[in-house]
Amino acid sequence: MTGETDTETVAADLRRRLARQLEEDGRLHSPQWRAALEAVPRHRFVPRFYRESHAPGVTAWKPVTPETVGEEEWLRLVYTDETWVTQFDGRGIDWAAPEVISNATPTSSSTLPSLVVRMLEDLDVQDGMNVLEIGTGTGYSTALMCHRLGSENVTSVETDEGVSRRAGHALTGSGHTPHLVVGDGRTGHPGGAPYDRLIATCGFRNIPPAWLSQVRPGGVILTTLRGWMRSLGLAKLIVAGDTASGWFSEDGPSFMIARQQDAPESLGVVPGPDDGTARRAVRGPDLLTRSGPAFMAQLAAPDARFFSTAVGGDPVSTFLLDSVTGSFAVLAPTDGGWQVRQGGTRRLWDAIESAVATWEEYGSPNTSAFGVTVSRDRQAVWLGNPHGPQWTLPS
Ligand SMILES: C[S@@+](CC[C@H](N)C(=O)[O-])C[C@H]1O[C@@H](n2cnc3c(N)ncnc32)[C@H](O)[C@@H]1O
Repeated sequence: MTGETDTETVAADLRRRLARQLEEDGRLHSPQWRAALEAVPRHRFVPRFYRESHAPGVTAWKPVTPETVGEEEWLRLVYTDETWVTQFDGRGIDWAAPEVISNATPTSSSTLPSLVVRMLEDLDVQDGMNVLEIGTGTGYSTALMCHRLGSENVTSVETDEGVSRRAGHALTGSGHTPHLVVGDGRTGHPGGAPYDRLIATCGFRNIPPAWLSQVRPGGVILTTLRGWMRSLGLAKLIVAGDTASGWFSEDGPSFMIARQQDAPESLGVVPGPDDGTARRAVRGPDLLTRSGPAFMAQLAAPDARFFSTAVGGDPVSTFLLDSVTGSFAVLAPTDGGWQVRQGGTRRLWDAIESAVATWEEYGSPNTSAFGVTVSRDRQAVWLGNPHGPQWTLPS
């Protein structure tokens, strides 16, 4: 490519191709969102980014810029259906001399376009609606909404000032002027309320109460819920005054957790070999890694995390530690089965085994059988219907 005009021409062509591909794959349905996808120049929102390199055993990210991979390859990658990471550990990147990054956690990114448009379609917007976005990130999804609804109808909150500033430049540069707010999205933005729709592109452990008072009755909240072990998936709630209720989607997309809700750095105190009360476990630790049971484990032990290790020459045990109450469960192999030792105020393994048994009684359904109801004093995920088995979300 030789100049800016060429870049813009190639980019426009790549956008059309991406939109066509998503439509053919059944991941883009509406002409309005197709028009937005074809119009918004994603390369202005991710002029530089990181891609995961798939070396065995290590997770590393490599910088992708016109300088590191060549302009043609950079542009081609920008318009693939991938999430591109733009920040790690909340720190700025030295783009003058970008290095390969490992041992770091992504903290901002441009979400893969198919997931962005799928959520935007789920949001059921109509002309003239007023939308609050939580997690501006690169500003790409904000720009799609501005194209569809007009900048005056879009407010977007980002917790990281530098990230918000860069998004602001990219948005202005592509002709959009939404209301950008720097702050914790859990407080929403009362100044622009009431909103017809709220969409969050980072994951939350529960529904922030402020959202209920800022979304009008009948309005929609679309967000991923997640815990410290895994994502619970995408929930779509309809607001009814002081309460909101709705269902999870069938698949479980996952977003990075809201910064203020990240797990404490320390997993907690590891119990000694004689701590706790022992019993034979009905289930083994594989529950924690198999999709359906792991979803139930996340619901039943919302403040816990686990790791497996061999202590003092013993076989590998799995330690489940609740960093809020200090409760624990340790699973160790015994006589062809498992023994569990539990201690603290929460019997973690009892709760997990019971939740998994309930899920099996209901036919081991996927996440679309679950819903969530939120009121001022309680938030619960239920199975089957709002009066079915319930698990309280952490407050
Ligand atoms: C996956 S990225 C957003 C993707 C973005 N919508 C896009 O299209 O580029 C998630 C963003 O949420 C932001 N974030 C994390 N916690 C937040 C919070 N409590 N309030 C607002 N933004 C938050 C992160 O800094 C990050 O930029």
